[in-house]
Amino acid sequence: MNILVTGGAGFIGSHTIVELIAAGHGVTALDNLCNSSRKVLGRIERITGRSVPFREADIRDREALEKVFSSEHFDCCIHFAGLKAVGESVKKPWEYYENNVGGTLVLLDVMRRHGCKNIIFSSTATVYGEPEKIPVTEDCRKGICAHPYGRTKSMLEDILSDLYRADIENGDPRPWNAVLLRYFNPIGAHPSGLIGEAPGGIPNNLMPYITQVAVGKLEKLHVFGNDYDTPDGTGVRDYIHVVDLAKGHVKALRATEERSGVSVYNLGTGRGCSVMEIIKTFEKVNGVSIPYVIDPRRPGDLAEYYSDPSKALRELGWRAELGIEEMCRDSWNWQKNNPDGYE
Ligand code: NAD
Ligand code: UD1
Repeated sequence: MNILVTGGAGFIGSHTIVELIAAGHGVTALDNLCNSSRKVLGRIERITGRSVPFREADIRDREALEKVFSSEHFDCCIHFAGLKAVGESVKKPWEYYENNVGGTLVLLDVMRRHGCKNIIFSSTATVYGEPEKIPVTEDCRKGICAHPYGRTKSMLEDILSDLYRADIENGDPRPWNAVLLRYFNPIGAHPSGLIGEAPGGIPNNLMPYITQVAVGKLEKLHVFGNDYDTPDGTGVRDYIHVVDLAKGHVKALRATEERSGVSVYNLGTGRGCSVMEIIKTFEKVNGVSIPYVIDPRRPGDLAEYYSDPSKALRELGWRAELGIEEMCRDSWNWQKNNPDGYE
């Protein structure tokens, strides 16, 4: 298939492009580089031996998108482009609604005008809010998101569902076809060490913080609470290797060929892992020490949050293969070879 990957220079987008190429798909990457580097494209070429056509464009720029869609036919768009920093979204909600919701509306409009109504959308486990049950299944009710970032994702899921329903009611012979992928906690990097996560400033998420402590950029890790009702008192999450996550998109593509409608899948491992387990595993597999202190809980954090990923196995034939060891190994391999990211 011929695929447009928006946000293709980003963390998950770049890994997905590698897997799409490995599976024999044609790929064009589109990104405005607001949170990524053009250098990613050279790295992808080194890994795959293929040069990826790149369009430097903003999804809010209708004219630029018109040019992209007029120049070739895309069978599907895998849509990663968006802003994703939870804290920043609280401070700059307008920017998040305008970029994520406004940008996606422009993208969807240009797509439908060019006859491309297949989309795989990057959603997040955050849409469950405080989930009804753990492990979280896709039929759990969506919850109240604590921040604008989560609300942009939840809104976009609803928008895609409404567009599909309207097509069916209107008897559209080619209705929208959307796969909503709710990611749990993506970490790790490509085993080559050539592409990985390169957050700007001080990282908010656990793994990039740990790797920056390991490389000496940050002094120590602050563990947010050790008094949760979990086996060792620290927060439990469902970390998933970004390469497994990327492969989930390739499987989801096949689903867009085989059926239409709106389908939702959790992409996680189904295994909860605590902050202390991550620290200990990182130290063991990489032979480095991670100094840490226990701090108070981070407001808004839940004690535990992990997926039931069995629907993705049943319907997409996808399951995560890589464990915490590989996630810690590959995150460190990336960070130590690229201490300043793509700089
Ligand atoms: P990322 O920031 O590395 O990648 C997103 C890319 O989109 C960046 O390269 C950025 O430059 C680009 N972009 C942003 N706004 C754009 C616009 N208006 N036009 C064109 N390009 C634009 O983030 P990521 O971790 O790769 O996440 C990819 C997607 O997955 C995002 O939509 C994110 O919300 C979602 N997601 C991420 C996580 C996570 O923990 N990383 C979890 C759940 C969902
Ligand atoms: C966070 C976001 C969530 C988003 C997800 C994307 C918040 C409140 N939640 O989730 O909306 O979808 O990232 O990846 O920001 N931890 C520490 N010290 C640190 C960083 C984290 O102890 O410096 C702990 C946290 O308390 C948590 C675990 O590590 O128990 C994972 O944290 P993080 O990587 O931020 O992910 P989430 O909290 O799941």
